[in-house]
Amino acid sequence: MALFASSTRAVPDSGAVPRHVAIIMDGNGRWAKKRFMPRFSGHAKGVEAVREVVRECLERGVGYLTLFAFSSENWRRPQEEVSLLMQLFVKALEQEVEKLDRNGVRLRVVGDLSRFEPRLRDLIRAGERQTAHNDRLHLTIAANYGGRWDIMQAVNAMVSRHPEKSGGWSDSDLEPHLAMHFAPEPDLFIRTGGEQRISNFLLWQLAYTELYFTDALWPEFGKEAFAGAIASFGRRERRFGRTGDQLTDPADA
Ligand code: IPE
Ligand code: IPE
Ligand code: MG
Repeated sequence: MALFASSTRAVPDSGAVPRHVAIIMDGNGRWAKKRFMPRFSGHAKGVEAVREVVRECLERGVGYLTLFAFSSENWRRPQEEVSLLMQLFVKALEQEVEKLDRNGVRLRVVGDLSRFEPRLRDLIRAGERQTAHNDRLHLTIAANYGGRWDIMQAVNAMVSRHPEKSGGWSDSDLEPHLAMHFAPEPDLFIRTGGEQRISNFLLWQLAYTELYFTDALWPEFGKEAFAGAIASFGRRERRFGRTGDQLTDPADA
């Protein structure tokens, strides 16, 4: 059984504080370019923004934070940038896991990890193991992740689990196999960097998520910008298919 209700099968609980925030951290390269610095310095600076947003989620009681760090399409970048990003990932894991653990953060990495170097894979597994007992904040890094990859790997897992059953599959058969099966669907999606697209992030899970786009570049996104996104979320009317009247008049519900 799935841990959390699917937004298309039941109306999920929703409150002023999003339970799950998912972020496309975009704009690192442009941040650096504006300062006549190499693109990589934007990625390095972006790690500071990650720290700040994690801190804010802990303060506000957001239970799940999912960050898109590297898409399945980002391998198309120049090899030097890809390799520097991988080194940055290694360094961040080496430096941050201890502190995450002390703060009650459970770290997970979702995506197709098979293409990563063994050293990076080992660090990921060790970080996940070390923090597995925590549940104050579930921090998930999407790395070599793609929404289509996720749906297809889940379909394959679902079918191979019950090869005798042909056809008649439902979304509740699929959902336990999705990479984010342990989390409720995101309440709030944030994309920094000014683009208004999903770029193959959580395609299945964003069905009823509130979308928030900001021109702020990821390395300059921090406490105040995050507060702005949360405030915008607080003004949304989430209807999940119902009418507005049903929300204000319980007799209509
Ligand atoms: C996002 O910043 C980080 C990754 C995709 C790894 P970008 O590197 O895409 O920055 P821009 O969009 O070029 O400014
Ligand atoms: C999306 O950013 C992926 C991550 C932030 C990891 P991109 O910069 O790769 O997205 P596009 O190519 O502009 O859509
Ligand atoms: Mg980009």
